[in-house]
Amino acid sequence: MTIYFEKMDIKQKISKVEEFVRENIKGYDSGHDWYHIVRVRNMALFIGAEEKVSNTFAIELAALLHDTGDSKFRNLDDHDSGELITELLLGLEVEQDIIEVVVMVNRYISFSSKEKQYELRDVFKIVQDADRLDAIGAIGIARALNYGGYRNNPIYLPDDASAGSSKSTIGHFYDKLLKLKGLMNTITGRRIAEERHEILERYLDEFYKEWNFQKSKT
Ligand code: ADP
Ligand code: NI
Repeated sequence: MTIYFEKMDIKQKISKVEEFVRENIKGYDSGHDWYHIVRVRNMALFIGAEEKVSNTFAIELAALLHDTGDSKFRNLDDHDSGELITELLLGLEVEQDIIEVVVMVNRYISFSSKEKQYELRDVFKIVQDADRLDAIGAIGIARALNYGGYRNNPIYLPDDASAGSSKSTIGHFYDKLLKLKGLMNTITGRRIAEERHEILERYLDEFYKEWNFQKSKT
């Protein structure tokens, strides 16, 4: 009986958080939409199960809230995302140590985050891997092209050899996407990243073949 009520309770809390997230990510580009959140949640729960990490509630909350208040889409006068998340989870009577890890994931998950003052806890490692896996493979390619289009970046600049500047979407593959395989935190994440990395390599091969079509014919 108690277990039944506990389960119901967790389910209700999760659906409140889902509601909050759906509202919060409005205005993000479509590569950061609700379906991205759902994919990251599913992948994080999968990795958590494979890695035998038991705190599925923390993994699920951290995955759902990982993009809340993303600096790419925030206005300067928006509330601090850590405060927003803490307020939300306190209202749902989530334990303090879970709130802490969820806020940490939200704050430090981004590839570009320079601060490394966090302890790499299991939940963090798992959700970061899940988020990074969504940036590679077939969906990762779609998201990169979509984001580049949203920013009106060129698809490819053949004369721009400099990596690290992301002036084009193909440039972004070298700046970030091709590096993700080597940055995985978990064994499961690495295994899936290897498969998805190959898709990127095959895509680039084909891209250059098509780009250079005229050249090779003349
Ligand atoms: P995260 O949200 O995981 O911190 P990013 O915001 O850097 O990471 O990337 C989110 C998605 O947007 C990824 O799929 C990434 O490839 C894409 N993206 C970010 N910057 C660029 C860019 N300059 N060109 C193309 N895609 C980009
Ligand atoms: Ni994300």
